[in-house]
Amino acid sequence: MLHQLKENGYVFISSDANSSILDVAKSVGDVFKIPTMPLVQTLTPRLKKDEHESTYSGNFGIDEFPFHTDLAHWHTPPRFFLLRCVTPAPNVYTKLIDSRYLCDSLDSVLVSRSHFKPRKTLDRTANILKIKEGEIFRWDSIFIKPINNSAKKLSLLIQDKLNITEAVNLSLAKEGDCLLIDNWRMVHARDPISEKEMNRKIERIYFEKVII
Ligand SMILES: [Fe+2]
Repeated sequence: MLHQLKENGYVFISSDANSSILDVAKSVGDVFKIPTMPLVQTLTPRLKKDEHESTYSGNFGIDEFPFHTDLAHWHTPPRFFLLRCVTPAPNVYTKLIDSRYLCDSLDSVLVSRSHFKPRKTLDRTANILKIKEGEIFRWDSIFIKPINNSAKKLSLLIQDKLNITEAVNLSLAKEGDCLLIDNWRMVHARDPISEKEMNRKIERIYFEKVII
């Protein structure tokens, strides 16, 4: 499975619907606890009006979530995350695009000159972020903001590229279905949620290292 993860940037894993995400996580690798979040986060469709704007639901509600990497505003975002289906909504697809396609045609000088900052920071000295640094690719249209002209130009180029690149569409269609994603490589998005899909429930856990 590690081979598939390295090859594709993601791997689909079936697990026993009666086991827990923590059982699955043990066999996948070293979990990473986000200080401000529970170890296992439960993701359900939420209406924009009920949510805080620091979340995706608070910005997009049940509309489509645009392509992003998780916690892109962190200096070092978590490397991997696992999504596990608790209550399926088979027509709601998770979409993935490999950042290697996005970066292929980008001018490396433009990329290195493009500076971003977290959308909200009280710390004026907060680190400047680059979308590609070593192994890490980060992208988020709302939680990181371009702060120079190069970054503004780069943002438009990436957005254009995202619009024309065909995504891999994956459905967590059955209880226990899991998707392990390399968060330093793949951008992901979520389909809009219809009224009859409001009971969709997905669990998520982050990893710093995988051993599968
Ligand atoms: Fe996400």
